[in-house]
Amino acid sequence: MLSANAAPIGVFDSGYGGLTILKELLTHLPQYDYVYLGDNARNPYGTRSFETVYQFTLEAVRYLFNQGCPLVILACNTASAKALRTIQQQDLPLIDNTRRVLGVIRPSVEQVGLLTKTGHVGVLGTTGTVNSDSYRIEIQKLFPSVRVFQQACPMWVPLVENGEYQAAGADYFIERDLALLFRQSPLIDTIILGCTHYPLLIAKVKRYLPVHVKLLSQGEIVAQSLTDYLQRHEDMAQRCSQFGQRHFLTTDDAQVFNQHATVFLGKSISSQKVTIF
Ligand code: DGL
Repeated sequence: MLSANAAPIGVFDSGYGGLTILKELLTHLPQYDYVYLGDNARNPYGTRSFETVYQFTLEAVRYLFNQGCPLVILACNTASAKALRTIQQQDLPLIDNTRRVLGVIRPSVEQVGLLTKTGHVGVLGTTGTVNSDSYRIEIQKLFPSVRVFQQACPMWVPLVENGEYQAAGADYFIERDLALLFRQSPLIDTIILGCTHYPLLIAKVKRYLPVHVKLLSQGEIVAQSLTDYLQRHEDMAQRCSQFGQRHFLTTDDAQVFNQHATVFLGKSISSQKVTIF
C-alpha cells in the first residue's frame, strides 16, 4: 500500500513485460514512488485490434490517474504503438491536461541511428507493433537514410507469460523468427527488441545472432530517457512523490503474479488484484 499522500509514477504493461522497464527505473530513479499495473487478465495485447488495445490502455491510464499518478509510462510497445498518440492528443486534454503519458518507442528510436553502421536496422515485436509500422515511421522521421526491417514474433510473449522462456521449445521460435528477419536483409547490424517481454529471452536470442549484431533492450534506454525528462520538467519531478514506495497491481491472480514478478525483478513482491474495467 502506498501512503495517502503518494503521487507515484505509473508503469503499465499488458502483463509482466513492463517489469523489465520498472527494474531499470528502480535502479536509475529509486527515490520515486511507483505503482505497476499489469493487465494480465487480458494479455496478450499484441494480437488485438487497434480499437481494443486503445480501449484497454485508456482504462489502465484512467485507473492509474485515479491512483494519484501524475505521470504514466506505457511500458508496452504494443500500447505505445496503438494507443499513446490518441491518448496524448484526444483524451488527456479532456481528462487532465496537467498529467502526462509517455511511451517506450520514441526513446528506443533515438538510439538506433547512433548505433547502426550499415544503416540496416531490425525490429522484433508483437504482430500489433509490427503492423502499426510505428518503429519505421518514427525511425524515418529522425534518421531518413536508415532502412527498417521488421519481424513479428507472435509466440515470444506467450512463452514469457507462461514461464517457458528457458524451455527448449523457445529456441525453435527464436531461431525461426530471427532467420525470417535476416532473410529480409543480411546487412542488419542493429536490432531493437521492440517488446518489453523480450529481455527475458535475450540469452537465447544472442545464441542465434551473429556476434557483431547489436541488440537494443529498452529498460536502460527508457530509464535514461525518463531521467532526462524529469530533469527538463522540474514541475513534474516535483509532483511525483519521492518516498521510495512500490505498489504492484494485476487484473488477474495476485499469487501467480507474485511468482512471475519475482523472476522479472529478481526480488519477491506482494501484489494486489484489481478490477480496472
Ligand atoms: N509487452 C508488450 C510489448 O511491449 C506486449 C505484450 C502483449 O502482446 O501483450 O509490446
